[in-house]
Amino acid sequence: MDRLSKLKSHGSWVGRWTFILAATGSAVGLGNIWGFPYKAGTNGGGAFVIIYLLCILAIGIPIMISEIIIGRRSGNSPINAMKLAARDSNTTSSWQIVGWSGITAGILILSFYSVIAGICLNYIFIAATSSGAIDSAEQFRNIISSPMNLLAWHTLFMFLTAIIVSAGINNGIGRMVKILMPMLGVLLIFMVINGIISGGFAQAFSFLFEPDFSKVDSNTFLSAMGQAFFSLSLGMGSIMAYGAYMPKEQKIISTSFTVASLDTLVAIFAGLAIFPIIFAFGLEPNSGPGLVFESLQTAFNQMSYGQIVGPLFFILLSVAALSSSISLLEPGVAFISEEGFMSRKSAAILISFLAWLLGIGSALSFNLWSDFNLTPGRNFLDSMDFIANQILLPLGGMLIAIFVGWFMDKNLINQEIGHVNPILFGTWRFFVKFVAPMSVGLIFYNAIFG
Ligand code: PFF
Repeated sequence: MDRLSKLKSHGSWVGRWTFILAATGSAVGLGNIWGFPYKAGTNGGGAFVIIYLLCILAIGIPIMISEIIIGRRSGNSPINAMKLAARDSNTTSSWQIVGWSGITAGILILSFYSVIAGICLNYIFIAATSSGAIDSAEQFRNIISSPMNLLAWHTLFMFLTAIIVSAGINNGIGRMVKILMPMLGVLLIFMVINGIISGGFAQAFSFLFEPDFSKVDSNTFLSAMGQAFFSLSLGMGSIMAYGAYMPKEQKIISTSFTVASLDTLVAIFAGLAIFPIIFAFGLEPNSGPGLVFESLQTAFNQMSYGQIVGPLFFILLSVAALSSSISLLEPGVAFISEEGFMSRKSAAILISFLAWLLGIGSALSFNLWSDFNLTPGRNFLDSMDFIANQILLPLGGMLIAIFVGWFMDKNLINQEIGHVNPILFGTWRFFVKFVAPMSVGLIFYNAIFG
């Protein structure tokens, strides 16, 4: 028996909904509720939304299907899953680079994700006690200007993430998503109803769906594509790792459509929860990353029951963030524990500690290091975000598409996909072989040379 066949097994999800809940939990996160609305807001609303939807359909879903195929075949972490798929397709084991880049991206993303999620946790309490007399923009500046405050919440969030992952896939992740996801659904529906009755719904609707293409340039495409990868948790092995625990009888293609649709629905619902309030209170929709902490909080301060609606919104954000952060940690933890280097618990502590350490840089970029640029024109947090989301994830996704489209043995693919409509299968093959890699390449080319 070779080494790859002797890796420790992680078992599989119990129950047919667990994969869908876990993958949707991974996909739905800060990217949907905090990122998507502000990016749509600053990129011309409807035009961004259309380009984003195209990216989900043409690039996101085909790559999600590919990741699950590779993951489920092996039952192992992305590094070993890629090694196995390459070995069984008689091609070079260098494809494992996709797994390594994924684990690196996961640590980079988790590092700043936890800082922002920490601010969300903090805002549950701020929103509960804030009132009309308070200037939200100044309050936000005060919150982020304190390194100790940011670090304390960052530490708490990372701790919660590590505890869940260390408890294992069914006892930790599986159990948590069964609680967190229904909670998220109920809170989101409540927030959309609140948006509908706030008075600004019609304006929000046309802002999100009426395209203004004058604001579109090559960067809009890069940003929409990065957002699509980030939002669907693609290109870094999270979905591959979760796919490894998917029961064999579950259908990969239809499940991927379910997860991607739920993710997109939540992003749009988040816009329909946030923008009506922003418009109803005469605030600016294009205020950037501070949209929910400044503009939305200003509205919470002014509305009746704002001290109830506000905290509920930030609980929603925190829940969404937690079900995603666990999937950022899982690929690395799965790798270290299946290799037998350490127990799952020690691996979770080690990797979350690394991400926590790196997160200090992001926390400081709001205050002490605000003038320090790690990459040209970008502070520490923005650089982590840029390197991971706009470079590593699309690159990882492109390599996965090229591998499955051109190098992976067709019989292995067929075994995983099972019986499907041949037209559906052919369409997927075409998108994986040509459309997805070429779109990513083109968008990269334009962003660099355009
Ligand atoms: N999809 C998550 C979000 O939209 O917030 C973030 C994320 C999780 C990105 C897991 C990448 C990942 F692998």
